[in-house]
Amino acid sequence: MGDVPVMGGRELSCMIVAGGQWGDEGKGKIIAYLALHDRPHAIARSGVGPNAGHTVYWKGTKFGLRQIPCGFVYEGARLLIGPGVLVNPKVLLSEIEATGTRGRVGVDGGCAIIEERHIEEDRSSEHLKGKIGSTGTGCGPANVARVNRTARLAREVPELSEFIADVPAEVNEAIESGKNVLIEGTQGFGLSLYHGTYPYVTSKDTSASSLAADVGVGPTMVDDVMLVFKAYVSRVGAGPFPTEIPQEKAEEMGIVEFGTVTGRRRRIGLFDFQLAKRAVMINGATQLAVTCLDRLFKDASGARSWNALPAAAKEFVERLENELRVPVTIISTGADIENVVDMRAEKI
Ligand code: IMP
Ligand code: MG
Repeated sequence: MGDVPVMGGRELSCMIVAGGQWGDEGKGKIIAYLALHDRPHAIARSGVGPNAGHTVYWKGTKFGLRQIPCGFVYEGARLLIGPGVLVNPKVLLSEIEATGTRGRVGVDGGCAIIEERHIEEDRSSEHLKGKIGSTGTGCGPANVARVNRTARLAREVPELSEFIADVPAEVNEAIESGKNVLIEGTQGFGLSLYHGTYPYVTSKDTSASSLAADVGVGPTMVDDVMLVFKAYVSRVGAGPFPTEIPQEKAEEMGIVEFGTVTGRRRRIGLFDFQLAKRAVMINGATQLAVTCLDRLFKDASGARSWNALPAAAKEFVERLENELRVPVTIISTGADIENVVDMRAEKI
């Protein structure tokens, strides 16, 4: 078993990181932390496409990545985009430059391409942009084209030729040889086309099963589903939000957020246990990560051990575990990648 990384006495080989709320749970930061510490052979991005922005602070720069996996910070990892994911070649190529990852990016030849006309349609649609509050990135119309079987695929785009790969083959070969693989989910449970607050959702299912399918991994090959929750809830775009609080109240709590892709101000609310329970069930979560604990409990800022957390923060995490019946193994206490309480060794 020599080189197989061992976590808490157990081999870690394929983990999906998924969002448990309406996206923007802080998955980018969690994935960057896992990438640096677990050193996966491959990190494969799944989910809808460039409507998602994963934020990571790395070497003094803020990255808001929409196509390249946030795990790029670990230089040993192959960076893959599964065939279920939409690709905007312009966004992808500029991110490859910005992250300096040209030699290790693989885009599946079967990824559907977002064309200019998809973006125009998304932005000019009274329904999508007006009513639903889409990100205007062309994802909905491009997925329609894919379903209609008129979409162009990545393997037909000359600018992408050097990156074209068989992502399911790479990922499954890695898993079978005992190497560590991380599947980077995007969006969140409440935005799922099937399980979310339809019609105020994105253009695809966003649960762990679909995230695995996006990169071509079968359900029996997945070892862990880490579901990420922010310590409070945010939602950008229209739609039901049972625990929403007024903007002024959020400001009093020191919580003001803006979307990574669109710059829109996010709606803020308190932690929604009902939504979280359903997200745990449908994602088959085996571990939970809680982010932005420092924004809810200021004294938690920068903590790196359980004992360094204030009592109120500990109580909150314990309540999460009691109600959701899944261990909280990772807690994020700040924007820096190392502002993490990692309890995997003790809890799994
Ligand atoms: P679309 O995915 O651009 O069609 O947008 C549909 C809905 O999903 C809108 O409410 C968007 O704000 C939301 N959405 C899509 N992707 C994300 C994401 O990555 N984070 C947060 N909201 C998202
Ligand atoms: Mg985001």
